[in-house]
Amino acid sequence: MALRWAILDGRLHDRAGFTCGVPALDDYLRQRAGQHQREGIATTHVLIDDAQPARILGYCTLSAAQLLLCELREPDRQRLPAYPVPAVRMGRLAVASAERGKGHGQALLGHAVNRALSVRQTMGVRVLLVDAADAQAAAFYQAHGFRPTAARALTMYLPIGPA
Ligand SMILES: CC(C)(COP(=O)(O)OP(=O)(O)OC[C@H]1O[C@@H](n2cnc3c(N)ncnc32)[C@H](O)[C@@H]1OP(=O)(O)O)[C@@H](O)C(=O)NCCC(=O)NCCS
Repeated sequence: MALRWAILDGRLHDRAGFTCGVPALDDYLRQRAGQHQREGIATTHVLIDDAQPARILGYCTLSAAQLLLCELREPDRQRLPAYPVPAVRMGRLAVASAERGKGHGQALLGHAVNRALSVRQTMGVRVLLVDAADAQAAAFYQAHGFRPTAARALTMYLPIGPA
């Protein structure tokens, strides 16, 4: 298995064949992801195995975002200026049902962090932001270091500390 990342391309990747068990996340990939990408709303990153390059093992979407300083926990606010905190939002994250438990979810998170760090070479980014769909998703994020924001427990952030 040779895994790699790609930006979603409807001509190359089988969106219809992807199913993760959450209809809203399947529908997004099929019906909205391409449009959002063209319109600059969100970019969809797909995890692919080179042996079957059309098959989407998992995906996440990334967008620019910001978070009010007061949404961070007190220790995470220290030494930050009194402005909104620059962020990358991972709006959606899903792994194909048949591919669960193989570390792909963790790999997608790692990819999002790496993308955020890469963006930071040209533009400030201090947190990775997610909207967990439910308590189970929130538990997954919490297990990977995300913290709830002050206003909404399901909106969570991962601090990306100073370089
Ligand atoms: C949540 C999801 C992305 C996890 O993907 P996955 O590929 O099965 O997860 P991984 O194999 O990478 O798991 C990595 C670790 O997280 C843990 N984990 C997985 N789901 C978890 C959960 N709900 N709560 C706590 N930990 C969880 C695993 O046990 C594993 O821990 P380990 O390394 O100590 O064994 C996947 O289940 C999914 O797509 N769910 C449906 C959509 C969804 O809920 N998306 C979340 C955002 S809205």
